[in-house]
Amino acid sequence: MREKIFSDVRSYFMANKPKRIIPGVDYIPAAGKVVDEEDLVNVVDAALDMWFTTGRFAKDFEASFSRFMEQDYCLLVNSGSSANLVAFSTLTSPALGERRLRAGDEVLTVAAGFPTTVNPIVQNGCVPVFVDVDQETHQVDVDLLKRACGPKTKAVMIAHTLGNPFDAQKVRRVCDEMNLWFVEDCCDAVGARLNGASVGTFGHIATASFYPAHHITMGEGGAVLTSDRRLKKIAESFRDWGRDCWCPTGKDNTCGKRFDHEFPEMPPGYDHKYIYSHVGYNLKLTDMQAALGLSQLKKLPDFIIKRNSNFAYLKQRLSAHDNFLGLASPTSNSEPSWFGFPLLCRPALMGSRADFVRHLEQRKIGTRLLFAGNLLKQPLYRDVPKRIGSSLVNTDNVMENLVWVGVYPALDHEHMDYIADVILDYIERNRR
Ligand SMILES: Cc1ncc(COP(=O)(O)O)c(C=O)c1O
Repeated sequence: MREKIFSDVRSYFMANKPKRIIPGVDYIPAAGKVVDEEDLVNVVDAALDMWFTTGRFAKDFEASFSRFMEQDYCLLVNSGSSANLVAFSTLTSPALGERRLRAGDEVLTVAAGFPTTVNPIVQNGCVPVFVDVDQETHQVDVDLLKRACGPKTKAVMIAHTLGNPFDAQKVRRVCDEMNLWFVEDCCDAVGARLNGASVGTFGHIATASFYPAHHITMGEGGAVLTSDRRLKKIAESFRDWGRDCWCPTGKDNTCGKRFDHEFPEMPPGYDHKYIYSHVGYNLKLTDMQAALGLSQLKKLPDFIIKRNSNFAYLKQRLSAHDNFLGLASPTSNSEPSWFGFPLLCRPALMGSRADFVRHLEQRKIGTRLLFAGNLLKQPLYRDVPKRIGSSLVNTDNVMENLVWVGVYPALDHEHMDYIADVILDYIERNRR
């Protein structure tokens, strides 16, 4: 019966297949999902199991994705934001003894990016310390990190923005020297590499997002990655209600002494399933989400090739005009996995970034800003305890002058040609 249903699902997909985007006629989104009939079959397969919560698809995904990211452990959660919350909260565990993060500790980060890279710092009562980004790569300026370090500084939490790796190896060296934890947000950068290793392997703990705009999608989904067994166990507890027990969903007595544990002030032999060691959450995802991710994962290498090929093609079309629109280059010793194509409006262009965005959008080219721009100028961070670790002049420049357009795998060189023509037309009309 399943095979019959799958065959119908494939036919349904083919009859309702997303249409090719025609440049100049259809809107070209800056980001989006790319799904095929096998993705839909997998979601239906998971639904027909009638298990619904985290299950066999999640287990398979965690095993495959940890291999892809060159980590020992992967824990699925319901979003990249949840992954960041779990990763950071893990470092507050009493199980880490003296090294645990406590309220009031400072955490180095950047303001040019997505809010939920920084929010977990605040949600855990710690104090974000903001340093500037580099003016050309828009990634953290690592030299500023070390200088911003103070006696209360205990951790670093930063994202590889738009898929171009920041120098995570250098950051790790600073962290080792200063005894700091390092959380590497790879939500925009799955597949990117630095000095021959996957992003995420430089931090003590790392995260990924599977929102539709990202390299692969689960609809909603995220992952926490680490090769530290102790951190993995704590992260699992924070994800799963804060419980002490580590049985997979639907399993009992994995530890073999479910009714034999002893905890001070607890009745002896209290069911381990109901013993809680952290102030946790429930951030698990459903097996339908994991099933979609598992089928998407097979296409990930191809998706990354397409993104990078679109990026390289558009860059080559615009490379003579960097004095009008700043173009991004891979950071040293890196292989980016481009999330988008950033364009920085330079003073040699007349008009504002808003004019440029209007020009693109009116010609059906989707645009995105670098998320929050300068987080400190956003309403949410106005009253939050924080420290400014350096001048944020480049962060402000990002907020005022940067925009990015899409390179995601539904697009090809024909779309890039159209985007390039529209951009070159803008430069022609607005050069000083
Ligand atoms: C760098 C970064 N971190 C975290 C997130 C949050 O991911 P999610 O939307 O899955 O919660 C995003 C979202 O796009 C992001 O760009």
